[in-house]
Amino acid sequence: MNTHIDQAKRILAVNDRGGYTVPTDRLYPFQWNWDSAFVAMGFALYDIDRAYRELERLVEGQWVDGMIPHIVFHAPSETYFPGPNVWRTEQTIPTSGITQPPVFAIALRKLHEAAGKGAEERILPLYEAALKWHRWWYSARDPDGTGLVALLHPWESGSDNSPAWDIALARVPTDTDTPVVRKDTGHVDADMRPRDEDYRRFIHLVDTYAACGWEPARQWEKASFKVAEVQTSAILLKAGEDLEHLALLFGRTEDAIEIAAFNNRTRKAIMAQWRPELARFVSRDLISGEDVEAATQAGFIPLLSLDLDKQVADALVFEMKAWSKDLKVAFPTTKPGIASWEPKRYWRGPAWAIINWLLIDGLNRNGHADVAEELRRSTIAAIETEGFAEYFDPVTGEGCGGLGFSWTAAAYLWLER
Ligand code: DGY
Repeated sequence: MNTHIDQAKRILAVNDRGGYTVPTDRLYPFQWNWDSAFVAMGFALYDIDRAYRELERLVEGQWVDGMIPHIVFHAPSETYFPGPNVWRTEQTIPTSGITQPPVFAIALRKLHEAAGKGAEERILPLYEAALKWHRWWYSARDPDGTGLVALLHPWESGSDNSPAWDIALARVPTDTDTPVVRKDTGHVDADMRPRDEDYRRFIHLVDTYAACGWEPARQWEKASFKVAEVQTSAILLKAGEDLEHLALLFGRTEDAIEIAAFNNRTRKAIMAQWRPELARFVSRDLISGEDVEAATQAGFIPLLSLDLDKQVADALVFEMKAWSKDLKVAFPTTKPGIASWEPKRYWRGPAWAIINWLLIDGLNRNGHADVAEELRRSTIAAIETEGFAEYFDPVTGEGCGGLGFSWTAAAYLWLER
């Protein structure tokens, strides 16, 4: 028996707070949206009931308009900022007011496949929740029908302080109505976290949207940060493919037609964001109208949901190899050596097991199984050497951020299966 597998399962058990899993103790003491989707896929390998439970608890926080929030505050905790009193969302179960990458339906298909035939009764409410959420993405976050969905807050990307936001976030004022009382730097070295100035802008946006009563159209109008984002859109498309598959399986023909139309629109829109001169896909800043050219992992995530021409896939892989050269652990979330590269600071360089998971799936999809296998092995080796850290310094391999981290445990289980 692989003792690391036992350890990974133990981490998921220790982080269980009653049917949902916190990302890690103290630093993230609630239920996070995309963390739970990855965690559910980990559970699906050995405890299907618990896997379903994870997603069921997440959708307890779904809003009437379909949004699944990025945090569900099931039980109070004093160890995190910003808590429910800052968000002021006035939901029955307190939640944040923004969302996170829609990995949910990707997990749902995996759970259904693991559960086998006859599990429809349990999955159908989750399928309905996913469909409502996808509709929300297209109405609230792509009102002009471009096919790319927009983020109104960097936290919605899951890649909070990525260099991808540097230009767009610099336009957001640093004044806040809410006092910024950080708790994260009491748990983790401040050099591994976003800077204070980032936090002031993050909270300025929260204050702005709270003042809009969290109403999507008003937020869209007032947003000083609005990025049509390629990583989120690519994840939404993969989730959309999986949702369409489930719709057909459940005989929901009309749903399948509706979802296929979303998917087609997004497929075309992402493809139009390919920039051969950068060998990457780019997001679009909707306030300046300019491409987001910052060199981050997001530019490679479309591998996950597009069947690319060989020439494009080869160019992406060539670029990925260039970024990974000389690193102990791939894949870096910022191109090594550029001015914004910080190998220990959260989303400004470190390697993350769940990003690698998405890239591995994308590389396999696009005919690069050898590179996928190399990345899989490197991710496993990093975890076995350093433990289930939140992320890894790609130069030294050091485990950084929070420890005993749920999605790293889930990624280990999935990649080692
Ligand atoms: C945090 O608090 O760092 C989270 O990533 C926001 O979701």
